[in-house]
Amino acid sequence: MEPNRPVFYVSTPIYYPSDRLHIGHSYTTVAADTLARYKRMQGFDVMFLTGTDEHGLKIQRKAEAAGKTPKEYVDGIVAGIRDLWSLLDISYDRFIRTTDPEHEHSVQRIFQRLYDQGDIYKSEYEGWYCTPCEAFWTKSQLREGHCPDCGQEVELTREESYFFRLSRYQDALIRHIESHPEFIQPPTRANEMIQNFLRPGLDDLCVSRTSFRWGVPVPFDDRHVVYVWIDALSNYITALGFEGDDDALFQRYWPADVHLVGKEIVRFHTIIWPAMLLALGLPLPRQVYGHGWLLLDGGKMSKSKGNVVDPVVLCTLYGVDAIRYFLLREVPFGSDGVFSNEALIARINSDLANDLGNLVSRTLAMIERYFDGVLPDERRFDDDAEGGGLDRELRTLCEALPGRVASLLDELQFSLALAEIWKVIARSNKYIDETAPWVLAKETATHPRLAGVLSVLSETLRVLSILLSPFLPQTAPKIQQGLGLDDPGRLTWASAGTFGSPAPGTRIRRLPILFPRIDLEKELVRLAEMGARGKPETPAASAPDKTASVREPAVPADPPTPVPVPAPAVAPSDEDLIDIDQFSRVSLRVAHVMACEPVEKSDKLLSLTLDLGDRTCRVVSGIARDYRPEALVGKRVILVANLKPARLRGQVSEGMILCAKAEDGQYRILTVEGEVPAGSPVS
Ligand code: ME8
Ligand code: MG
Repeated sequence: MEPNRPVFYVSTPIYYPSDRLHIGHSYTTVAADTLARYKRMQGFDVMFLTGTDEHGLKIQRKAEAAGKTPKEYVDGIVAGIRDLWSLLDISYDRFIRTTDPEHEHSVQRIFQRLYDQGDIYKSEYEGWYCTPCEAFWTKSQLREGHCPDCGQEVELTREESYFFRLSRYQDALIRHIESHPEFIQPPTRANEMIQNFLRPGLDDLCVSRTSFRWGVPVPFDDRHVVYVWIDALSNYITALGFEGDDDALFQRYWPADVHLVGKEIVRFHTIIWPAMLLALGLPLPRQVYGHGWLLLDGGKMSKSKGNVVDPVVLCTLYGVDAIRYFLLREVPFGSDGVFSNEALIARINSDLANDLGNLVSRTLAMIERYFDGVLPDERRFDDDAEGGGLDRELRTLCEALPGRVASLLDELQFSLALAEIWKVIARSNKYIDETAPWVLAKETATHPRLAGVLSVLSETLRVLSILLSPFLPQTAPKIQQGLGLDDPGRLTWASAGTFGSPAPGTRIRRLPILFPRIDLEKELVRLAEMGARGKPETPAASAPDKTASVREPAVPADPPTPVPVPAPAVAPSDEDLIDIDQFSRVSLRVAHVMACEPVEKSDKLLSLTLDLGDRTCRVVSGIARDYRPEALVGKRVILVANLKPARLRGQVSEGMILCAKAEDGQYRILTVEGEVPAGSPVS
């Protein structure tokens, strides 16, 4: 915590640990993470809060159905949610659970304070309750007798309850919303709140329950538990120590800059929450942004029609950055959008593999091929020369880009920000075609213009990698490594605005393919099979051994393995026997497959990039008929690591991976069970 830096506080909702998390849940969190990363790059001291909302009737019932205590039940699921966020590279600063004793204690103090000052009073509640939404409704608010939000059945409830004087704050809320147009975004949601809820008049809100026990006890009347939304909304300040032992974080970060929430919970965040804050005499958050829903087949997300919506499976199949990119690019933030496997694959192929991936691999390959990986110092640019200012055009676009992206990100327009970045990517690919470096290379290998062109491309990629890093936290550093950029000063957001040249002597490194192309038709068939099988059965987000299911696709990517028929057992003769020393000369190690691609002009060979912990290596293996390249990525295989390198179809292979040959002649690779680090010895 540096006292002089500006602060920025962003939150996601806290998630119910009840349903299996689907790709829709990742949406808010990926957006918040991108914003947090961007603000950090801009020099802000960021507080990014997320967590879980663990009390209430809904959770109590789910736990009962699972035969567990509520705490046992949520503990398992929360562990899975944290794993999902680490899989998606979510850089939260604080993760709050509403079952944290500090939070429960602060909620009791808040409740007591509101009671002591007369904002909470005892009465009797009679009305309807929607358990899926944990929301109270009056008869006139119901839609055909059902919850107006989720459409499910409501339960008639009558019990002694404490009430919060919400009605008291109605006018203050209207005034605040009208005088702070930025408070509720997008603006249509503000109108909705005013027209549908505030103008018709607010009733006082029932804020305690006696009919079940799973909640924070009301401090002065322990037959009651605090209404779960009062408990949950308080998280935004209890997480910072409000009404706790140390409120330094609260003093520093409150009020929040933005609460990101799905549109169905805007009402809780723009009416109940600010009313609570007004009652507590605290400043209101600067903004509540209600984003839209990811829909599947027209309805709010649920698993159907063979689409795979489990974020763990999707990340395993396509990589985290591809999923992050899709979520932020496909749907304008604020609107609803449709998720489909087809749209996802189309984006991966066109935007990531084709546009970005090609730009990176062409640029690096040309620097490697024409200059052995290091651009010469003598470079000719065409700023004012015959070429018509091609360099200048690209440079000007790059120099304007950080500002454009920043102002769109400040408005949470993730999709438009990416579209701006992609315009420059497209322009750069066109620049390669226009400057035709391969023609220059034919004229003379040391043509200074050739070095100039590649220098412009390398610098463009540097700028792009910086601006992409909040969105693609795994890919951007790879591009930077590829470019040989290790001066941190050239990787800051501020440095993206200055277009220069790569430092003399910078050595590039070839990269494995960033985003392998996917065969759309075949992939859709495969995904439909997976979706129809509905695996995994257990909630992925609550599976006890999460990391294993992350590494190993929850559903095998390959056709069913034929049962191997053992070869007839023939005892080896004496001269065939080797001693243990001879065997121990073979270095067998566990390798993680990082990338895999077919070898050109060969229908048998695949080229695998392997992680050995301390190094990476390339192995060419004759298993192209038995495995699709992408099915191997993420697997832990066994490598003969001290084999003399061999050349196969022009490619150097630095070892051999072990396979079993099945009865039908198919190869089946040997893999390792469980979490075994790359490089581990096999003996
Ligand atoms: O509402 N598309 O939790 P939650 C987009 N615990 N966003 C989606 C989505 C979809 N298909 N499905 C879910 C709660 N979300 C409360 C919050 S905050 C004090 C308490 C988003 O687990 C949803 O809109 O039901 C919400 O923002 C978030 O996931 C958590 O939903
Ligand atoms: Mg919900």
